[in-house]
Amino acid sequence: MRTHYATQLSRNDIGKQVTLAGWADSERDHGGVVFIDLRDRSGVIQLVCDPADGAAAHEVASAVRSEFALRATGRVRARGEGLTNPRLQTGEIEVIVETLIVENASLTPPFEIGDPKVSEETRLKYRYLDLRNPKLQANFRLRSAVSHAMRISLQEQGFTEVETPILTRPTPEGARDYLTPSRVHTGEFYALPQSPQLFKQLLMVAGFDRYYQIARCFRDEDLRADRQPEFTQVDVEMSFCDDDEVMSVAEKLLKAAFKAAGREIAIPFERMPYSEAMEIYGSDKPDLRYDLKMIEAADLFLDTNLKVFAEIAKAPKINRIKALKVDNGDRLTRKEIDYLTGFVAKFGAKGLAWIKLKEGALQGPIVKFLSEGEQRAIIERTGAKEGDLIFFGAGSKKIVLDYMGRLRQEIARLLKLADPSAFRFLWVVDFPMFERGEDGALSALHHPFTKPCDLSADDPEEIKSVAYDVVLNGCELGGGSIRIHNEELQREVFKLLNISPEEQRAKFGFLLDALKFGAPPHGGFAIGLDRLIMLISGAESIRDVIAFPKTQRAQCLMSGAPAQAEEAQLNELGLRVRKTTK
Ligand code: AMO
Ligand code: AMP
Repeated sequence: MRTHYATQLSRNDIGKQVTLAGWADSERDHGGVVFIDLRDRSGVIQLVCDPADGAAAHEVASAVRSEFALRATGRVRARGEGLTNPRLQTGEIEVIVETLIVENASLTPPFEIGDPKVSEETRLKYRYLDLRNPKLQANFRLRSAVSHAMRISLQEQGFTEVETPILTRPTPEGARDYLTPSRVHTGEFYALPQSPQLFKQLLMVAGFDRYYQIARCFRDEDLRADRQPEFTQVDVEMSFCDDDEVMSVAEKLLKAAFKAAGREIAIPFERMPYSEAMEIYGSDKPDLRYDLKMIEAADLFLDTNLKVFAEIAKAPKINRIKALKVDNGDRLTRKEIDYLTGFVAKFGAKGLAWIKLKEGALQGPIVKFLSEGEQRAIIERTGAKEGDLIFFGAGSKKIVLDYMGRLRQEIARLLKLADPSAFRFLWVVDFPMFERGEDGALSALHHPFTKPCDLSADDPEEIKSVAYDVVLNGCELGGGSIRIHNEELQREVFKLLNISPEEQRAKFGFLLDALKFGAPPHGGFAIGLDRLIMLISGAESIRDVIAFPKTQRAQCLMSGAPAQAEEAQLNELGLRVRKTTK
């Protein structure tokens, strides 16, 4: 139905007869001549409907409104002197229309396509119109090119794509499951996979050696700007390998992904142990585009007159006093410092002490408590210079590391310290195997199938695991581990996680059995494809790289999912809804 897409045409085509198809981006009637900007997936081109060139076409054009679907045949001509549009790729030419067909009219759209002032709610309700926005479409072309390149990279590295089930049993990855009732087995449920974790391990037992899948995963968890209830992983597993080999596959894969997006990245990536990331950056996914390291300072306050600090400094095992030096921090206004104090308070900070180095002397609310020796020691430890500002966080380790890490990010945001065009990759390695919840129970930091380095430590929280996360610009892009391939070890880990032998059998019997049949050593990783595309494209939200995303409340505003089921369906499934919240 068409000879060209809009941006395939240029000055070289002047005089050619062409047929184009697309939507009316805008239309203007200039004293009898109608101009229509025709938009197709490639871009926009100006159509000119002059009664002198085609009376019928001009009449049709007069009735055209925004978002009508059109097909136009005519001749390419150069735009007149002073009439070119440098903002348009096709801005030097236009098409003189001889025939114009309205393939379909359009209601007045609820918003102008691409208008940044429209609420996201409205855009999501009419997502099919929102997606006509060329900026959004570019994200999906990028996504397609990147996943294509990742497939090729994995195929070339000897991986086989295998699909694993969606209707399955729960795969624990730390979120709630989406359940689907079974009609045939009334009262029983499938769980949608939180990841293909167990199946990919079983494929290793099955001898596939190298597996991958671009897999949809489902997690019922609190949603944020970088989380959706269903999302896509580039999921990889391999046998007879160590962690270095797995990480090297991931690096090659990411290199191919960025290349498809026109960006060269350097591999291998830097590595940092988890404990270092936490102590220095207060995060297991530090953004290394800016420095702002936290400096341990408890020993400087042992004898200080600032009693809260002296008290905290006495117990360095459980407490921390961290200094965060901000170069030229006097750029921060008093109002901003007050804002930051309120900001860290939300995360449990009891206060936020600060000191400025101004005119050779220290200034700030805590200076009066500090001896000259302490002041000198602070300057020396932090390397503070004239105009720098130092924040101090003091309290129990976990809380201080957390809020000082957040403070670091918030300062970087206020002072625009991160280069938005930079890509800083990092492997965080040597994760602890377990973490202890507030109720004292242990849970797996990655997942319970991750191989612990050594289970013999007295305190399970001290046990490290062979797990690694790949971090990009402060975002967790992916993660993986070497797995347990020994049944006894897997049982021991389950036991530490307080999973009884009966529960082990009921939930993971098939895995435990499989491990007894010559399971090879194996490991792998998964990269969040949506997050990857979000970071490469610079999109602000994961919703901008998912065609039909859900809201923060896990709803699809366009289709209305989730929705109530019909009585007959529920009956068939043997279900009754006790109470609806709507
Ligand atoms: P993990 O749970 O770390 O590991 O998930 C891997 C990556 O998937 C992405 N991701 C998400 N993206 C969008 N929305 C979500 N709700 C969401 N949850 C996770 C992240 C994350 O880094 N089976 C293991 C991998 C392995 O061990 O091989 C797993 O699923 O980018
Ligand atoms: P105060 O003596 O309570 O007024 O505290 C003096 C200064 O120390 C104030 O700037 C407080 O914000 C700060 N401060 C108090 N407790 C802490 C803490 N636990 N961590 C960091 N700063 C604190």
